[in-house]
Order: sequence, then structure tokens, then C-alpha cells
Amino acid sequence: MAHSQALELLGNITPEQFLNEYWHKKPLLIRRAIPGFTGLLSPEELAGLACEDDVQSRIIEEIHGIWHAKHGPFNEEDFATLPEAPDSEHRWTLLVQSVNHFLPEASALLQQFNFIPHARLDDLMVSYAPDGGGVGPHFDSYDVFLLQGQGKRLWRISEQTDLTLIDGAPLRILQHFDTAQEWLLEAGDMLYLPPHLAHWGIAVSEGKTDCMTYSIGFRAPKEQELATEFLGFMQDKLSIDPAALTGRYQDDDLTPQAHPAEINEAMVQKVESILKKIQWSKQDIVAFLGTYLSEPKPDVLFEPNKKISKRNFVEKAKHTGLVLDIKSQMLFSESTFYLNAEAADFTGVSASLLQTLADNRKLDANDLITAHPLNEHLLQQLYDWYLAGFIHYA
Ligand code: SIN
Ligand code: CO
Repeated sequence: MAHSQALELLGNITPEQFLNEYWHKKPLLIRRAIPGFTGLLSPEELAGLACEDDVQSRIIEEIHGIWHAKHGPFNEEDFATLPEAPDSEHRWTLLVQSVNHFLPEASALLQQFNFIPHARLDDLMVSYAPDGGGVGPHFDSYDVFLLQGQGKRLWRISEQTDLTLIDGAPLRILQHFDTAQEWLLEAGDMLYLPPHLAHWGIAVSEGKTDCMTYSIGFRAPKEQELATEFLGFMQDKLSIDPAALTGRYQDDDLTPQAHPAEINEAMVQKVESILKKIQWSKQDIVAFLGTYLSEPKPDVLFEPNKKISKRNFVEKAKHTGLVLDIKSQMLFSESTFYLNAEAADFTGVSASLLQTLADNRKLDANDLITAHPLNEHLLQQLYDWYLAGFIHYA
């Protein structure tokens, strides 16, 4: 990807400039980021998704100034109780998470953000709100691009440092909000917000089209979570430098103690010095990141493809090319490829093919044909991933 080429999506600045000046630092309003964009699905289709078991959705309501949150899956009755023409006494919004796992167009939209590493990308959330609806004034802990679909949304941002939240609310709502700037976004406009910047998006229907906003969200694990997950990942792999090993716990210096039940200080010190010998390598960190960041979320399931012979699979793949399943996450580091938390090592031409698959989420038939003869190990791996439902024919 040419990072020195200006992108319309970024308001005709280059990804380099964007990362340098705005990413993680300050907001950027981009008028006509995607000219002609009016959204990828209708309010009815979004509501339909929110009724599915494997889709994470929420309805947020503000009734007489009190915030309420309900979690999906929803049914028609849940929607029937919501006011069609909301007023200041009762406003609401529907939020649907990971729409990129269900809609190929949504997955393709995320690919326009390929100037940010896939390892940082979280998901595409789509919201629907009739007039006045929204999730209230708040701040997020991660970067987000807010792309306006149909209708309009008034975005307010604040420079406040007071980030006190309303106590006991079922979602994070700021107690106070001082508007520093506001913009009315129309279809195709986009607002980038860095983490921790207070913002407030209010749906504006003007008696016509209700508002739908597409949030391209990024993941930024908490340091504590990284540490806990890393130790979990390493629990069977932690090693002690063999040169530093002395064998077993030793206490030839044991002295009598008043309380036989007491864990004595000498024991604590000895164990402390044993534990200090625990080590991990940079490779362990890479393996952890590849596995952890490509791990499907708990609600993500893959449907295995129908079993066919490896020969037939290869023949057909050379005809059609291959694509990642819409829910697959593929990352790599040097010669190790991580697909949905499974690691595999490849070098040479095979590695170049897999890099293309990971970067573009697809491998053209041509790529497979020109790489002839294909390495047996690679074919076996592709075949296994195909059977697992991680990849499909294009
Ligand atoms: C939305 O309501 O679509 C956006 C939510 C947000 O502000 O993060
Ligand atoms: Co937000």
C-alpha cells in the first residue's frame, strides 16, 4: 500500500500525514470522505441482524433523562415498544456490533482502512437512531472513524478534562459536557476521533431520513489484559534458563523457627530468586500476539466446509482463487502466519502467497497458478483451513 499517496478517504492527505498529525492525537473532520456513500444496509436489515442469536446488539434508551441499555438478540416486540417519533422524553438508538462479520460490503469497507495494521482493527459497529437518538455524551478508550451513512448526525466534541461519569448508569455517560466544537455530518462525511476525547453524537432526522452511523473501531488492549493474557498463553511454555537451574528447592541453611506453620523469610527469598529466572523470548511475544490478536471472539463460530478430496480442492482453488471467511482474522510476523489463533510457518513463495491472503483477504486464482509448482505443505495447510471453514473458494 502506498502510504505517500493522498487518500480521498482522509480528505486528500496521505496516510503518513494522517498518522503523523492526527492518529491518537487530535480529531479530523473529513467532508465527503466517501462521496455518494449512503450506507450499506437499511434500518430494517440492521434490526434483522439485531434479532440474530450470534450478533451482539444493544438498544439504548433515554427516558425522562434516565439511561437504559438492553442487550440483544431482540424480537419484533422489542422494537414495537420504541417510539417511532421520539421526543425529548424518550429517545433511543440501536447499535449492532461486528457488522463486518455478516455483510461482505462492510468487510470491504474496513479494507479501505488498510493504512492501519489489521492487528489494531476491531470491528464495524452500525447504529440507527431516529431524531435526537444517540448514546449520550461519553468518551471511548480507542480510536474511531465515524462515517455517516443515511441521514445526519450532529457531532459535538469537547476539550474538557473532567471525565466524571454518571453514577450507576448502564453505559458510560459523562456528567457534564462542554461543547468546544460541533459539526453536522451528512452522508459520506467522516469524523476521526482519538481515544479519550469527549464526544456526543445526536441523530438529526429533520422529519425525513433517520440517522445511521458506521463506526470503524480499533482495539487497544489494556496493559493489564495483555499481561494476564500473556501469562495465560505462556503457562505451559515458561522456562528457566538451563544454565541458571540448580535443580530443586534447597535449604541446607535451614534454621529452627518458633512457628512451624510459618512460611519463613528465607523460603520466600529463595523462591523469589527462582521465579526471577523465568524468561521469555521475543519469539514468545510474537507468538502470543499472533495468537491472541487473531483469536476469534467467543461468539464467533466457523462452519466447516463440506469434505472433498485435497486434489479436488486444489483444482477448484486454482480456478476460483481463495478468500478468507468473513469472520477470519489472519496476521503474520516474518515466516509465521496466524489464522484464527492457529500458527503455521512458511517461507519463500508460499510465504508471499500467504502474505497476500492476509493483507488482501483473498488470493487470486492467478496467484496460485503462477506460483506453480505449489509447495505440498502449503496445499495441505490451505486444505486444512478450507475444511475448518477459515477460507473458501472466491
Ligand atoms: C453512534 O451512536 O453511532 C456512535 C457511538 C459513539 O459515539 O461511539
Ligand atoms: Co463514542
